[in-house]
Amino acid sequence: MADGQPFDSRDGEIWFDGAFVPWSDAKVHVLTHGLHYASAVFEGERAYGGVIFKMHEHNQRLVNSGKLLGFDIPFSVDEIDRACEATLARQGFEDAYIRPIAWRGSEMMGVAAQSNTIHLAIAVWQWPSYFDPAERLKGIRVDLAEWRRPDPRTAPSKAKATGLYMICTLSKHAAERKGYADALMLDWRGQVAECTGANVFFVKDGAIHTPTPDCFLDGITRRTVIGLAKARGIEVIERAIMPEELDGFEECFICGTAAEVTPVSEIAQHRFAVGDITKTLMNDYAAAVRPAPKAAVAAA
Ligand SMILES: Cc1ncc(COP(=O)(O)O)c(C=O)c1O
Repeated sequence: MADGQPFDSRDGEIWFDGAFVPWSDAKVHVLTHGLHYASAVFEGERAYGGVIFKMHEHNQRLVNSGKLLGFDIPFSVDEIDRACEATLARQGFEDAYIRPIAWRGSEMMGVAAQSNTIHLAIAVWQWPSYFDPAERLKGIRVDLAEWRRPDPRTAPSKAKATGLYMICTLSKHAAERKGYADALMLDWRGQVAECTGANVFFVKDGAIHTPTPDCFLDGITRRTVIGLAKARGIEVIERAIMPEELDGFEECFICGTAAEVTPVSEIAQHRFAVGDITKTLMNDYAAAVRPAPKAAVAAA
């Protein structure tokens, strides 16, 4: 652990099934369906200046992810919104990471667990930069993963489901062992898909190219960045991108709630510049996530 404090013994409280519990007491039993069979879905959200960016969209995706795994979270999106805000306030942070997670409980322990209770917990902690801040500005080094994103007929790829992250951890561990910061995964067809916790964008001749999200997460940050690029008059082309094309791109960046907009300097043997479009979108994203000053909101 970078700061020496394991995640199961930190200070503060965690929202757990509708009530706050001391951080160290927010536990599940080892016989929990979600732990054994990955019947769990989660979100990653960030608060800036005390306001959770795109909170409602994240919590809507959380509820949808549960439905894709065949369960209903026993709280509405609005209730989850309020719980996220309350947890952030309780922890007393302005800038923080918010992690809601929902999972199938312990009533049945076979693969089938049709009537297991569904639980929801929300934890908030400070997570300043997903990548080393100095590395981040120079552009991170990314490896090409051996593991691929699955066919949507193999797994519900639109769900932010814990099971899908097994592929991400395998890929990121392999990349880190080789000295890279992250891994870019291809999809089951061999097309460029996404990184282990972020979507990927490329720049060529003033236009942005990004893979069509037909078998991986269409990130909320991805959609935000596409909007920011279009607002600047930059053309955004969503299409199938083959790994053979990587040499033809001038810039590359990844984006996600945790990663924000992070330039990429290398993907395996391919090299990219930290260029103007990447820098512009890094700055535009940093501005977009900051809540408007209260006086400006009142005047609007
Ligand atoms: C695998 C993966 N792809 C993409 C993203 C980006 O999604 P978002 O921008 O909604 O955080 C994430 C982050 O949650 C992720 O884990």
